[in-house]
Amino acid sequence: MAQASANLNLMILAARKAGRGLIRDFGEVENLQVSTKGPSDFVSKADRKAEEVIREELTKARPNYGFLGEESVETKGKDPTRRWIVDPLDGTTNFLHGMPHWAISIALEHKGEIVAAVIYDPIKDEIFTAEKGAGAWVNDRRLRVSGRVNMSEMVFATGLPFAGRADLPETLADLARILPRCAGVRRWGSAALDLAYVAAGRYDGYWERGLHAWDIAAGVLLVREAGGLVDGMAKDTNPVESGDIIAAAEPVYDRFTKLARGES
Ligand code: IPD
Repeated sequence: MAQASANLNLMILAARKAGRGLIRDFGEVENLQVSTKGPSDFVSKADRKAEEVIREELTKARPNYGFLGEESVETKGKDPTRRWIVDPLDGTTNFLHGMPHWAISIALEHKGEIVAAVIYDPIKDEIFTAEKGAGAWVNDRRLRVSGRVNMSEMVFATGLPFAGRADLPETLADLARILPRCAGVRRWGSAALDLAYVAAGRYDGYWERGLHAWDIAAGVLLVREAGGLVDGMAKDTNPVESGDIIAAAEPVYDRFTKLARGES
């Protein structure tokens, strides 16, 4: 990776520390699958513990920054221009079911813009990093979004609304428009990794509604720094604020966004 700033190094350190704890806990989950209660209490604790580890590392070094995490109430910082946005365990359902596809996501926002990002997949030992203006990386390799041009060869990712969420009909309509045109749509259950995979050129694009800032803040910067384009599902909106996101490699961006928005 290019010369990392002190903040990015701090984020990497916090993610790796939380990752070590989560890997240990993930090992336990398999044993708990067979108990009648299942592992859900255990996983909620693991999730909270990971957030505490990250919060402690970050706030020890930067006591004036704000902190928004999935597992706790937002803390406003003395410095109102900077805040951490953290999902200690994105892909909780995968983790809970013993499926090895989940990640830690940490973003730094400055004056409303994401300036540094880390998405860490401890199972595959892939750490995705980006800083504004300095590119995106996975471990030591520079990331570029996909260069594919034929939509029939492309693979897209999304999330499917669960637990009675109201946006199911919209998502099913999106799928009916997109699926016949491409090589496949994946729903792997981690928005952070979906965006990291767009940045890595593994997916050609990704869209999802009803997310939270912590699911996507880091991924937004990764995609942009890898040369991709990101917007809200509504044109010219900020996905970190709305929770509705569309991201794609540049060659397919216009075609894909029109399809996903039902404009073609
Ligand atoms: C979830 C994942 C998933 C998405 C859900 C999110 P969590 O985050 O990102 O891919 O479809 O909407 O809630 O709860 O595992 O942090």
